[in-house]
Amino acid sequence: MLFGRKQSLVGLDIGSHTIKAVELEPQNNRGHRLVHWGISPPLAEAIVDGEIMDRQLVTDAISNLFESREIKSRQVVAAVSGRAVIVKKILMNRLSAEDAQQAVYWEAEQHVPYDINDVSLDFEILGPAPNDPKQMQVLLVAAKKDMVLSFSDLIREAGLQPLIVDVDSFAAQNALEANYDFGPTEVVAILNIGSEITNIDITRAGVPYFTKDLQLGGNTFVEAAQRKFSLSQSEAAAVVRGETSGFEVVPVVEQACEGLALALERAQAYLRTAGEAGSVTRIMLCGGSALTPGIADFLSRRFNVTAEVANPLSRIGYDPALFAGQEVMKVAPLLTVGIGLALRRLGDKK
Ligand SMILES: Nc1ncnc2c1ncn2[C@@H]1O[C@H](COP(=O)(O)OP(=O)(O)OP(=O)(O)O)[C@@H](O)[C@H]1O
Ligand SMILES: [Mg+2]
Repeated sequence: MLFGRKQSLVGLDIGSHTIKAVELEPQNNRGHRLVHWGISPPLAEAIVDGEIMDRQLVTDAISNLFESREIKSRQVVAAVSGRAVIVKKILMNRLSAEDAQQAVYWEAEQHVPYDINDVSLDFEILGPAPNDPKQMQVLLVAAKKDMVLSFSDLIREAGLQPLIVDVDSFAAQNALEANYDFGPTEVVAILNIGSEITNIDITRAGVPYFTKDLQLGGNTFVEAAQRKFSLSQSEAAAVVRGETSGFEVVPVVEQACEGLALALERAQAYLRTAGEAGSVTRIMLCGGSALTPGIADFLSRRFNVTAEVANPLSRIGYDPALFAGQEVMKVAPLLTVGIGLALRRLGDKK
């Protein structure tokens, strides 16, 4: 490569609210540098439940974003989410990684509600089953081929080259693991709170023990504030962002987060009975709606652990001018998935 420069990659996070692009360049002394980042204007209904409703609108938004933010690299890593992917932990008889490759196909047929020929399969052996040493736990990731294909086509239509297609929640996990040192026994709940969806990912020592997508996010909070204070949508959105004073938004947000707390409690109970992990010891929030006033405090009190909004740039170098006039911590949480994607390398698993 010219002057030994390693190539930069762009993480492209196509969310239902906005599209985020993050260009990272590997540094010679390990680590990465942020080259560019960009967030599109809101997309309004172009993407619903992870499905792209208006392709032209989305490809135009991607091209505009690359142009206006002067992102030169065309090599992108993107993520599919919603109904296109199924992530499931399964038990199998213990096998070598090679033999498992074959066996996973047979097993997947029982666990995936689609024709096995219609899905791309990936898997990771997590380790021996806690209650039966003759068995092992395997994380199965199945993505519908037609959806992955149509997604890659969309990226090509925007003039870019899709290198890897990943999954939102794993990308968020990847971003945080690159920026924090989690202890080997820490059970970390990573919550990527977007506008429509919250990805819950409970991990220990880099292994995802539990993943689930909840229909909850910024839209839920805005709707709750709209009802409570009889406001228009845009007025309620400003209240939820903490931009309008005079409204007691925290109790409204807490009530709207009840479903999230319950889902976490259930996940925790499930992990305990399966003998896999103890209680969650730390909660890390990311995604735009992680910035909603009151969420971190609410979860911290409820679970009696530290809950914080993560900084996915804490170990990534950047020129402060890239954030001119903006508070980094008001932007960085939105870039988490994009950062996790841009950190991927060809040949990476997952
Ligand atoms: N400072 C802030 N305070 C509160 N909420 C915010 C703030 N900034 C952004 N948001 C909210 O975050 C949401 C967007 O977050 P994000 O970009 O992570 O979602 P998305 O990836 O587009 O959506 P999804 O992942 O659900 O498809 C919007 O609902 C927006 O109103
Ligand atoms: Mg998102």
